[in-house]
Amino acid sequence: MSEPTSSFDSRASEYLDKMVSGLIADGNIADPRWQAAFRAVPRHLFVPRFYRNDQEGSSIVELASGDHWISAVYSDIHLVTTEDVRSSSTAPSLMASMLQALELVGDERVLEIGTGTGYNAALLSERLGPDQVVSVDIDPDLVAQARERLEVAGYRPFVAVADGVNGYPDAGPYDAVIATCRLDYIPPAWLQQLRPSGVIVAPLGAGVAVLRKSATGDEAAGEFLPAAAYFMPLRHQAEPTAVGELIQIALNGAGVRRPYRFDTSMYRDNEARFWLDLTNPDVRAMTVDGVSVVIRPDGSWARLADALVVQGGPGAVWDDVEAAHGDWLAAGRPSRAQYRLRITDAGQDVFLAGRSGPTYRLMPLPD
Ligand SMILES: C[S@@+](CC[C@H](N)C(=O)[O-])C[C@H]1O[C@@H](n2cnc3c(N)ncnc32)[C@H](O)[C@@H]1O
Repeated sequence: MSEPTSSFDSRASEYLDKMVSGLIADGNIADPRWQAAFRAVPRHLFVPRFYRNDQEGSSIVELASGDHWISAVYSDIHLVTTEDVRSSSTAPSLMASMLQALELVGDERVLEIGTGTGYNAALLSERLGPDQVVSVDIDPDLVAQARERLEVAGYRPFVAVADGVNGYPDAGPYDAVIATCRLDYIPPAWLQQLRPSGVIVAPLGAGVAVLRKSATGDEAAGEFLPAAAYFMPLRHQAEPTAVGELIQIALNGAGVRRPYRFDTSMYRDNEARFWLDLTNPDVRAMTVDGVSVVIRPDGSWARLADALVVQGGPGAVWDDVEAAHGDWLAAGRPSRAQYRLRITDAGQDVFLAGRSGPTYRLMPLPD
């Protein structure tokens, strides 16, 4: 990057320096090569505005140049970058742990799924050079903006509009794939486009999976980073439009009534939630008008109040969530670092390392 040319640039560079020093002091960027990359890429060029909620829950935009804007951009926080919350810039500490988990040497070719602001693509380009980085986003407007910002910042990775579930075969194969949107399973196309011994780092449920393809290329295995991670979903897996209607049915429907074993507070425990999100990825639990409501895109619903659950629709969603939570408790409340992930031609399985306990198949493959 060029030297600061104005008092604003020099103020931004002080903020950047302070943020990176803080990330290093807190042990979030141990690798000196990533320390240098974070120092070189100015986050503010990629987040010229962000949105936050005020105390009443209304959206407020923070525009470039305000003091609040620059200090937030150089804080270790995640920033929502579109008013409809379809994209965001991930918290830098989480970005750093995901980038370091790629274990790059420096000559790898990397595919990023979820270009968003372009900041992560810039960090990868700083580390690997422009010809080695391919980044795709499903949203054409975001891709156009990211291209402009990358250009201004002096980076030229290959950025394309594409549905990341298909990877990006035209520019592969890759040594690594990094995703910054949440998945329910690892798309088979990523494994096909990954070289033997290549790495995938991807948010899975409420965690980040780190997988290495075998040298023979016939399976991939890995684990989860210890930190919680709540990414936006890969968009085709996002909720259908009938959500509002389903919430109303859940609030008022006459379904089957019984005492509940567990209430929705289990979702507030990060480790319990990890298992619940993996095993029941489509379930959404929320509070509406003081009532706990649970819905699933298949039209199943439940509401919990006064020690009773009332549920209806095609499936018994609360039975499924309680069963998963019961499995987690019976296994001794494992944390995400204890799980392993194995992908073969037979399917994608999550299980507890070295122990008997719940096993979950993420994506059963057809016979
Ligand atoms: C958390 S943001 C990405 C943050 C980004 N890496 C950055 O540095 O700013 C997640 C992004 O995933 C994108 N996305 C969602 N579904 C996608 C899909 N099916 N294929 C590609 N990108 C997708 C969204 O448009 C959004 O920009």
